[in-house]
Amino acid sequence: MSLVPTGDLVGRAAAERGCVAAFNVITLEHAEGIVTGAEAAGRPVILQISENAVRYHGGRLAPLALAASSMAGSAAVEVALHLDHVTDTGLLHQAADAGFSSVMFDAGALSHADNLAATASAARWAHGAGLWIEAELGYVGGKPDSPASAHADGVRTDPAEASAYVADTGVDALAVAVGSSHAMTERSASLDHALIARLREAVPVPLVLHGSSGVPDTDLRAAVLAGMAKINIGTALNVALTRTVREVLDGKPALTDPRKYLGPAREAVAVTVREMLAVLAP
Ligand code: G3H
Ligand code: ZN
Repeated sequence: MSLVPTGDLVGRAAAERGCVAAFNVITLEHAEGIVTGAEAAGRPVILQISENAVRYHGGRLAPLALAASSMAGSAAVEVALHLDHVTDTGLLHQAADAGFSSVMFDAGALSHADNLAATASAARWAHGAGLWIEAELGYVGGKPDSPASAHADGVRTDPAEASAYVADTGVDALAVAVGSSHAMTERSASLDHALIARLREAVPVPLVLHGSSGVPDTDLRAAVLAGMAKINIGTALNVALTRTVREVLDGKPALTDPRKYLGPAREAVAVTVREMLAVLAP
């Protein structure tokens, strides 16, 4: 097993009417926990690093990307490396050299016409560099700059528009707004499964669910059955990691060795990944 292209994992999942999970990496411990959890589940996985995570690391992409790629290379399961929610074309253009096989280009804050032009240009560049590219149409809310909630008028993805958008931009996968929202710490999102089925019929490329941390197990399974092929999960790992750090440090002001709290936190990430992969297993 080894570092494999994202397009291979998503393409295979879509062909089998299953899914592949993509987990967000912010720290080294996230990457280690995700790979350990995927190995325990015996399932392939995508490690994704977002533009926001790169900003957290001082704008430097290489250190975390190289660490994640190195872990992928020695994993006991297939692991792909994906650059997530990229708005900055300067960062986009670093993706191939940093070891990524795929990117998600996020032009969701732009007008429809500007989104289309910017995404088509990003797709031309990505394909020229040998990268698989995902884009978003509609608006999955919950990010700090989100203009609307997941339930506001007009934020859900329209199937006919989605079909035209994929044809006009040439993207390889499409993130769609169907009721999930980023950064939910409670699993209370309610998905529009009829809309997912209509999108699956209309759109010729794999569909991606963002904001999956807030989606209950039953809805996640139903979303995969209805046609979601890539399931993005970030916040659920942070909830597990941070809860564990709090528990370990509670009442222990003399504890200063980070290994004493980051080790259990990393294990909590691994357990969450294993459990989520069991929910998403065929
Ligand atoms: O692109 C990443 C995801 O959409 C993660 O969303 O943090 O709400 O699970 P989440
Ligand atoms: Zn997302």
